[in-house]
Amino acid sequence: MNIQGKTALVTGASRGIGRAIALQLAKQGMQCILLVARDQQQLTQVADEITAMGVKAVVLPLDLTQPIEVNMTLVKVWRDYGPIHLLINCAGVAYQTSFLHTRLPDIQHELTVNLMGMYTITRLIARRMAIHKQGTIVNVSSLMGKVAAPTMATYSATKFAIVGFTQALRSELAAHNIRVIALLPSLTDTDMVKNLDWFRWIIPLSPEKVAQVLVDGLRQNQTEIVVGWQSHLAVWCHRIFPSWVERAVAWAAPRPSQKPMQTRLKNIWAMLW
Ligand SMILES: NC(=O)c1ccc[n+]([C@@H]2O[C@H](COP(=O)([O-])OP(=O)(O)OC[C@H]3O[C@@H](n4cnc5c(N)ncnc54)[C@H](OP(=O)(O)O)[C@@H]3O)[C@@H](O)[C@H]2O)c1
Repeated sequence: MNIQGKTALVTGASRGIGRAIALQLAKQGMQCILLVARDQQQLTQVADEITAMGVKAVVLPLDLTQPIEVNMTLVKVWRDYGPIHLLINCAGVAYQTSFLHTRLPDIQHELTVNLMGMYTITRLIARRMAIHKQGTIVNVSSLMGKVAAPTMATYSATKFAIVGFTQALRSELAAHNIRVIALLPSLTDTDMVKNLDWFRWIIPLSPEKVAQVLVDGLRQNQTEIVVGWQSHLAVWCHRIFPSWVERAVAWAAPRPSQKPMQTRLKNIWAMLW
């Protein structure tokens, strides 16, 4: 894809990987970047950085779990800023806990943001891209969308679903000249993982590295962009020796005993609740 002079909408642009992608797209010559997340103040800071590079940035404070709000905003966006050529679905949330102690509201929150939020905005934008007969959609999944992670069952389920959603859309929207791509980063050093117990041996990526690999992948017209050598190794091994990799992941997963006392008490409380 040629980025020059195009318009992109990036969800989850207030921080972490989404922010790094928005900045990287600006560096690569995108003409206009629409920034979506809930936190207006953080979005404005990102917009200021983009504007300083001479690129137009528009702040769209939106909660993706509110379809009516999303719909109304996008109608105005299309009217005011014209067609969106690139949609980056990056917003997401993650909880980590043993499944036996999972709280139902946390499960619902992960499903609603990671899946329903993505479907809502993709449906609205893909329809308009189809009318214009052009567009590219990038769905941010994860290495956990290929190799599921104990202690993060719902998160893994959403990321597997995103890979399936992406594959189905790719076939379906090809007739409308719309490309659909999955981005699969492994552990990346962002706010999302600050309070998680990390899996052993995983070396975190920087959000900037993820953004750089995405832009390279877009240029090379890749359909599934796996980020980092650890992810390539894990995906490749899982294809050939799935049960070995599952055993290795179970071994590398955080042990319940590694949780701080406060978290353990919270889990007991959740069980009682
Ligand atoms: N970090 C990792 O290790 C890692 C690895 C693989 C894949 N990923 C994926 O990469 C994506 C970005 O993750 P990250 O690490 O950058 O996380 P992050 O730093 O926590 O950022 C998450 C972003 O999602 C936005 N968001 C959350 N709920 C939202 C809602 N209801 N409506 C609109 N925006 C919402 C947040 O903005 P507001 O809070 O301002 O709304 C924020 O911009 C996620 O899809 C994640 O699953 C992350």
